[in-house]
Amino acid sequence: MTSSFSTSPIALSFPVPNLVFEGCDPQRWNGGSIVKSQFWNSMSSLLPNIEFCAIRSLMPMMQHINDSKLRSEVRLFCDQENAHGTLHSHFNREHLHTNYPLLKSIEAWERHCFSWMSKFLPQRLFLSLFVAVEHWTAAFSQHGLCTPDAWFAESDRTMFQLWEWHAVEELAHKSVCYDVYRYFKGGYVTQVMGMLLLLLFIMLPGICVRLVYLFSKDKVWWHLGTYRELAAYLLGRQGVLRKTFKDFLRFFNPRFRPWDINSLPLIEAYLTQRNVVQDTQQVLHKVRSNCI
Ligand SMILES: [Fe+2]
Ligand SMILES: [Fe+2]
Repeated sequence: MTSSFSTSPIALSFPVPNLVFEGCDPQRWNGGSIVKSQFWNSMSSLLPNIEFCAIRSLMPMMQHINDSKLRSEVRLFCDQENAHGTLHSHFNREHLHTNYPLLKSIEAWERHCFSWMSKFLPQRLFLSLFVAVEHWTAAFSQHGLCTPDAWFAESDRTMFQLWEWHAVEELAHKSVCYDVYRYFKGGYVTQVMGMLLLLLFIMLPGICVRLVYLFSKDKVWWHLGTYRELAAYLLGRQGVLRKTFKDFLRFFNPRFRPWDINSLPLIEAYLTQRNVVQDTQQVLHKVRSNCI
């Protein structure tokens, strides 16, 4: 038996859906709600830059990974993030940039920031940024797939398919960056710094600036109802931040490993429902105990 740094219990191979966004109303695709739609539109605008940046950072590292399972997972991880970035960029170009042109400039500015960070941040700290991103996206994906009716009730079918597929792949590859980080001897302190960097300089400002712009453009910025709905959507009983907060905190436990949260049933349910049953057995396979 060969040991591997990889902790993935699943093969990273899923069909990419063929999605056509024609006819989608960017302002109200999520249950007719501007607030819910624009929250996820902000994410759609923010994520591709991060995904493409992760690919650009991980690809050159591949040649230094002398672990065939982990190396092949890095390649598949990059394929998946590339597919996410491409489909979201497609939606962004078609529906967001045309209606909300400032998003294009915000994205361009962020691209400059990411390329600056990739040049000047120490490699391990930069890598820890993606460990943190993957932790966030996995937490969102886990709860989004558990409670789709709470987060995406009566949403546009194509948009739901986009986020559902994205969530499933995020769960499937959630440990890859973490495993690479461990392979390159990344430590706990840098890992925490990566999360703080991500939150304070990327996620929070990235989402807030976009929401301010999108709400002003939709002329709901001054409505008290907007903030009531946003607070309920994020912090209510099934709220996006409330549901994910506990998982978010687990990142700070030095013993935490991404697969401590079991996501296999959610992935299995998706594959079965999508009639990819014939692939399920190939996709779901247990990692040998000495690989963990
Ligand atoms: Fe992604
Ligand atoms: Fe990811």
